[in-house]
Amino acid sequence: MRLTLSVIKADVGSIGGHTKPSSRMMAAVEGEVAKAICNNLLIDGFVCHTGDDIAIIMTHTRGEGSSEIHQFAWKAFLAATSVAKTSGLYGAGQDLLADAPSGNIRGAGPGVAELSFDHSLSGARPAESFMVFAADKCGPGAYNLPLYLAFADPMYCAGLMLPPMIKGFRFHVIDMDHTAGDSVIELDAPADNYHIAALLRDNERFGIDRIVSQTYGEVAVAVSAQRLHAIAGKYTGKDDPVAIIRNQGIFPAPEEIISPFAKAHFVGGDARGSHVMPLMPVPLNTPVTGMYCLPIVSCTGFSIDKEGRFSESYTDFFDNPAWDEVRRRAQSKAIEMRSQGWSGAAMLPYSELEYGGFRDTVSALLKRFRLREERKPEAAE
Ligand code: 13P
Ligand code: 13P
Ligand code: MG
Ligand code: MG
Ligand code: MG
Ligand code: MG
Repeated sequence: MRLTLSVIKADVGSIGGHTKPSSRMMAAVEGEVAKAICNNLLIDGFVCHTGDDIAIIMTHTRGEGSSEIHQFAWKAFLAATSVAKTSGLYGAGQDLLADAPSGNIRGAGPGVAELSFDHSLSGARPAESFMVFAADKCGPGAYNLPLYLAFADPMYCAGLMLPPMIKGFRFHVIDMDHTAGDSVIELDAPADNYHIAALLRDNERFGIDRIVSQTYGEVAVAVSAQRLHAIAGKYTGKDDPVAIIRNQGIFPAPEEIISPFAKAHFVGGDARGSHVMPLMPVPLNTPVTGMYCLPIVSCTGFSIDKEGRFSESYTDFFDNPAWDEVRRRAQSKAIEMRSQGWSGAAMLPYSELEYGGFRDTVSALLKRFRLREERKPEAAE
């Protein structure tokens, strides 16, 4: 069976500020998912949230970019939006940027990550397991560094030295500044590692769209790399990307995929999406309530049975005391960075901030600049 994994996420309202969706919103989306499984649109589905973003994780056989699946997700988010509006919640419908988009909703606001594979639980994949990363309060390239390290650097993934992975992985890197269609370059790790790094270092412009095994041609990773402000033309909240990563066997093991997150690396995001702050790994369904408004990321693991259904439960990778150490380090990096306030590297460059109110503040000031008259040298005695 050709199976598709789709993760579609959106922020359509949150309780007490931009913290988390309400239980009634979650129940509305879960109700839609249950109906879609009943109607055989979906094989299986799971709903969770990271901060104020709701993610719908689905299996089905309708392929990537299916208008039925995308329209279903849009409808589910509309149901949650209507609950959010009735309850007076913050940012109701925030990420639904288009009016009733037809077909595929990529580019209409919600984040979309999808990948497909032949699912038979045999050959190169006698078992199928995958992870979903979901981030809140952060920019679209938040996974650039950790995915590069997991799929291109044996210092993080020693498994890359084994026969199934030694040929490396092909990175599809997307230029998120390009708005008329997807503009993608394919680069092979390890041969093109320096070229890949030269692009991925810019988290705001270039993102990983997918990663494919060079030996097996199987897709390992799909990321929702797109920029909300490129769609809306103005700041409408942070991008808060999701990623699907297949693991084990011909792909890195879970620990090789999550270990780069121990860095709590700095990303663009945080309050008003304007700061440079560390990415803190958190358990699933964590609200954003800490000091500042730290970028956070969750990681959930599933297995898939022969029929394409999820295992009866899931693994919450960052819900482990080992990550407390990283969370503490993230918090202390955050305090250090925030002690620098608005200065220089502590905030995003103007090119990013200009999509928000900073543009108005600075352009009003720019009008008041005057060329200074040249000072005349003092007359010699
Ligand atoms: P287990 O023996 O627990 O399956 O662990 C094997 C392993 O290879 C860990 O990466
Ligand atoms: P969200 O995209 O999660 O709504 O965050 C936006 C923001 O501006 C945080 O201050
Ligand atoms: Mg929000
Ligand atoms: Mg969010
Ligand atoms: Mg957002
Ligand atoms: Mg085992």
